[in-house]
Amino acid sequence: MNSLAIALLALGGGSAAMTVPTMSPISSSGAPGPTGLSYPSGFDMKSRWGNLSPYTDSTGFGIDKGFPAECELSQVHVLHRHGQRYPSSWPTDGGAMQSFADKIANYSKQNPDKKVGSGPLSFLNDWEYVLGNNLLLPSGAAAEATAGALFWSQYGRLLARPKPTFRTTDYPRILESARWWLSGFFNNVGANSSYALYDLTVMSEDDGFNTTLSSTSTCTNGSSNGDPDVAGFYPTLTKTALKRFSAFLPHDFNLTTMDVYAMFSMCPYESATLGQSSFCSLFTEQEWEDFEYTIDMMFYGNNMFGSPSGRAQGIGYVEEVAARLQSRLIMQSHSSINYTYDNNTKQFPLHQPMYMDMSHETVIVAVLAALGLDYFKYGPHGMPKNVEHAVPRNFIMHKVAPFGARLFTEVWTCPADSKLDKLQDQMYKNPDLSSSSGTTDYIRFVLNNAPVPVEGLSPCKGSVNGFCGMKEFLDYVPELTKQAMYQQACFGDYNVSTQVPNGQPPLS
Ligand SMILES: *[C@@H]1O[C@H](CO)[C@@H](O)[C@H](O)[C@H]1NC(C)=O
Ligand SMILES: *[C@@H]1O[C@H](CO)[C@@H](O)[C@H](O)[C@H]1NC(C)=O
Ligand SMILES: *[C@@H]1O[C@H](CO)[C@@H](O)[C@H](O)[C@H]1NC(C)=O
Ligand SMILES: *[C@@H]1O[C@H](CO)[C@@H](O)[C@H](O)[C@H]1NC(C)=O
Ligand SMILES: *[C@@H]1O[C@H](CO)[C@@H](O)[C@H](O)[C@H]1NC(C)=O
Ligand SMILES: *[C@@H]1O[C@H](CO)[C@@H](O)[C@H](O)[C@H]1NC(C)=O
Ligand SMILES: *[C@@H]1O[C@H](CO)[C@@H](O)[C@H](O)[C@H]1NC(C)=O
Ligand SMILES: *[C@@H]1O[C@H](CO)[C@@H](O)[C@H](O)[C@H]1NC(C)=O
Repeated sequence: MNSLAIALLALGGGSAAMTVPTMSPISSSGAPGPTGLSYPSGFDMKSRWGNLSPYTDSTGFGIDKGFPAECELSQVHVLHRHGQRYPSSWPTDGGAMQSFADKIANYSKQNPDKKVGSGPLSFLNDWEYVLGNNLLLPSGAAAEATAGALFWSQYGRLLARPKPTFRTTDYPRILESARWWLSGFFNNVGANSSYALYDLTVMSEDDGFNTTLSSTSTCTNGSSNGDPDVAGFYPTLTKTALKRFSAFLPHDFNLTTMDVYAMFSMCPYESATLGQSSFCSLFTEQEWEDFEYTIDMMFYGNNMFGSPSGRAQGIGYVEEVAARLQSRLIMQSHSSINYTYDNNTKQFPLHQPMYMDMSHETVIVAVLAALGLDYFKYGPHGMPKNVEHAVPRNFIMHKVAPFGARLFTEVWTCPADSKLDKLQDQMYKNPDLSSSSGTTDYIRFVLNNAPVPVEGLSPCKGSVNGFCGMKEFLDYVPELTKQAMYQQACFGDYNVSTQVPNGQPPLS
């Protein structure tokens, strides 16, 4: 088969449902499999969009999802991500899409008698770039309201509800996400009628301001080793599609690697903005797998164990959770904390049954690094870029931090003889153990509704189903702080050119 025939076959689905006959799986020679909005295999491309995937509960991290019936749910700390947004102007994000759009517009202007796209790319002749910048989308607002309502149903009703204080940054999409979440939480269908029911601590994200809910900009020397690694993988990701698409564009359009990457990104962003996108039908299953991999590699290298400041970026939030668990204010900061917000109970209340902090995916990712959760660790050199395709891994962004992602730190008070080995699916009633003696408190980290294994977090050694002794955990937090090496990671003079093993700067 010549390459044009392969390309025609591969693109045959167009924007309608797949019409191409079933093909053999993608071969190692790179011959494309079918493309389309849906696939004969039932493959769901939305779950391969990494941080741009719409929220779904995680399929799980290998441990039981249930609740310990004999224990009392005493507290929940929520770290939440905003909902669907417009792209940022970053060169590999909105920047790449904008310049692809400009290139098409320029080409049409310079060649008024020529069509730009043909065949499956004909839609480009009418296409316009309609995405804005950074702001929360209506689909994101709806996702946050749903998340808040669900949280009330699942956790809120089990716990008391005095007038609580929640926290957010002042970044517009984060602030709006918080308010939408709270509308859902308070079960108010009038969008602004929950306003009086809560207080919101709004922290600045401006340069030079510390905040644990946006910690990348406070960590000025924390290098971004994910970006160069992803740049190295782009040509591999895009090469087959570039060849395929070039057949349907004028020769002098000079389609580039970054143009194809922009075409990938258009799919999730237009889906969030317009409900669907013609770009989605252009790629194979393997290509979507590899697209997700580029996103995973980028976050792994920028905010996770692959980054020398991965632990540092997340430690501030861990310290705040520890302080809340110990009912103490924070009077000084050696991390991304701004103690001015944490040294008083008005802005940093204690003894609330639940807390909610609205933030970014980078922070959720970094917190998992700061906790040292080995389940997500890839290896001593970070995630490899010199591979043909996505490699097997546990750190997968659509499971870790899709739009509307949420990390719960649950606190469970259990009877002395509790083994935590038998969990049940539903929790209708919260037992009251306040008058029982000899109870033990446990914490459990639940990411997108699935508990996370705590291997690697040494005070949790021997834990069952992800439940970790709270006292042992709290005793260990100063050690986590030490391991994060905040001052060195964020302000030190060091150079690393590749991903690192453990989210720390070089130890020398
Ligand atoms: C489009 O054309 C403008 C004006 O001629 C030029 O400045 C710009 O760089 C072009 N953009 C692209 C992506 O080719
Ligand atoms: C929401 O309600 C508060 C308190 O009633 C009010 O101050 C605020 O202006 C309202 N906002 C909007 C957008 O209506
Ligand atoms: C900390 O927050 C206060 C406002 O509460 C602000 O005035 C101050 O500039 C902040 N400092 C830093 C380092 O973020
Ligand atoms: C493609 O490359 C050729 C040769 O360098 C150049 O003349 C042409 O303007 C380029 N086309 C676009 C759309 O940039
Ligand atoms: C901001 O962070 C720096 C670096 O960790 C710290 O030295 C400083 O005390 C913090 N400022 C506030 C107001 O918390
Ligand atoms: C919190 O820190 C700020 C900034 O240092 C200070 O002005 C304020 O008095 C402190 N508040 C309390 C309650 O200690
Ligand atoms: C780290 O930051 C300091 C200033 O805080 C600067 O002097 C130094 O050059 C930086 N080092 C690197 C490697 O960027
Ligand atoms: C890191 O690189 C910078 C710029 O090349 C250099 O000035 C600095 O001395 C290097 N630092 C170390 C610790 O090697």
